[in-house]
Amino acid sequence: MPSVLEKLSTLFRKKKEELVEEEEETEEKKETTHAERAARYFLRRKSRYLDSYPLYEPWAYAYIFEDPKTGNLVYVVEEVTLNDREKEIYDQITEYIMWELEPPEREVDPREYVMKYARKAIRQFQLKLGRTPGLSWSKIQYYVERDLLGYGILDPIFRDPNIEDISCNGVGRPIYVWHRKYESLPTNIVFETEDELDEYVLKLAHMAGKHISVAYPILDAILPGGHRLAATFQKEVSTKGSTFTIRKFREDPITIIDMIDFGTISPEIAAYFWLAMDYKMTTLIMGVTGAGKTTTLNALANLLRPTYKVVTIEDTPELRLPLENWVQLVSRPSYLGGVGEITLFHLVKVSLRYRPDVIVVGEVRGEEAYVLFQAIATGHSGMTTLHAESIDAAVKRLTSPPMNIPPSYIPLINIAMVIKRVTKIDETGRPRPVRRITNIWEVKDYEDYIVVSKWDPVRDRFEMDLSKSIVLDHISEITGRSREELYEEVAKRKAILEWLHANHIRSYKEVASYIQRYYINPKAVLEQLGVEVR
Ligand SMILES: Nc1ncnc2c1ncn2[C@@H]1O[C@H](COP(=O)(O)OP(=O)(O)OP(=O)(O)O)[C@@H](O)[C@H]1O
Ligand SMILES: [Mg+2]
Repeated sequence: MPSVLEKLSTLFRKKKEELVEEEEETEEKKETTHAERAARYFLRRKSRYLDSYPLYEPWAYAYIFEDPKTGNLVYVVEEVTLNDREKEIYDQITEYIMWELEPPEREVDPREYVMKYARKAIRQFQLKLGRTPGLSWSKIQYYVERDLLGYGILDPIFRDPNIEDISCNGVGRPIYVWHRKYESLPTNIVFETEDELDEYVLKLAHMAGKHISVAYPILDAILPGGHRLAATFQKEVSTKGSTFTIRKFREDPITIIDMIDFGTISPEIAAYFWLAMDYKMTTLIMGVTGAGKTTTLNALANLLRPTYKVVTIEDTPELRLPLENWVQLVSRPSYLGGVGEITLFHLVKVSLRYRPDVIVVGEVRGEEAYVLFQAIATGHSGMTTLHAESIDAAVKRLTSPPMNIPPSYIPLINIAMVIKRVTKIDETGRPRPVRRITNIWEVKDYEDYIVVSKWDPVRDRFEMDLSKSIVLDHISEITGRSREELYEEVAKRKAILEWLHANHIRSYKEVASYIQRYYINPKAVLEQLGVEVR
């Protein structure tokens, strides 16, 4: 059995060799490798090595360790380190850039502009210093880019596609991450002093182009790259000093095919939703924080007919639709002094002027819900999410202040569903977090719901029954197609989704292209894919 050190060493020897080759004249050989540093961490804490992968080769790697006593896992970021001389030069370069950077003459991408300038500055220092054995310029460049343009100390974590959330609960406490495979994990990154943490929160606010201060200590904003940031400043509203939490944005959104792949939804349910979206059925997605509501909303809205006019209304722009005829509206907090606020309520009202087929509201919480329901009552279709765990709880919330939806409006919702994070034991016997759409109802009347699908936790299977579906009745009325024909339509769409899944066609653009082609010429798509409808 190779020891942990051996395992880690082999893992990174190759990378290390490349690095050393590139920086032949450096003293790097004297320094520790990632593997050695990780092994030291492991020995110090007597923890068990579980997993590791590169975050940004050859600079940063992630390790997952387990404390054998408690079974707790920890996420360790290992980055190359600067030696004293490199640190000194790094400080000089960053200072130089900060003082000397001049505003560009014409309109340019500010990031690219700073990047170019930083590279030029590094080259100038390099020329000035001449031969510099023991110095790695590429390492210095990594740090300059990381700190000036990137997310500084947390930059490696931002690069990890497995991380969904990053949060800091105050000074002296580890940064926590939510890992797709290992759930909530503390990391080895800690802001040790209040100044360091406050400075970082200010940096985040600046990056988002927003303001945070003692006078305005709460911030809700979008970071470059679309990450959603919520932060508090100093001890104004949070007892342990500044805090923040970041919901990372996925460059590559989760599609309906991914959801089938993850087992969040079955191909049959997905096909049912595809048909429901085709006929603009009003849909409500429920779940707790981080359950996957917005993701599901986005994946379903991607199934809408491309000719529909869609208006989306959100507090932070999270939705991404492959539609031409899409208007994305985003609310705006008040300016300092409390003026100029544009709420979801205002936006839902204004959206009606756009004559939308479908109004998508990221999440309903307040009086905007009432306007949305009024819009639905006058013939628009609606899609939204709500923080609730069951249809009863959702209806209770909808009909109470501040939403105040009259019970007679509740049947305007055609389909309601709950998405949950649940734990599954994987092949190795480890519990693994997964998401499942656990319940789907059709709303017949106030407090009268038809169960169309239920997830069986023991067998991890979805039990779907469309025999009592009133959504199919509605579609039948609109189209004049019989129930049998609609069952066949669901079966065809299911076969297409299964084909896409089997052929690993999952990206949002690719999936959209098949969906759109099916809308234009279903027969041609079925023939081209050669899918058999069972
Ligand atoms: N079906 C899924 N399978 C795997 N990961 C998912 C799934 N759905 C969502 N996620 C991931 O979970 C995280 C939270 O998802 P999402 O933002 O959709 O949740 P939410 O319920 O809208 O949360 P909030 O209440 O904070 O708005 C995201 O990082 C997303 O990529
Ligand atoms: Mg959400």
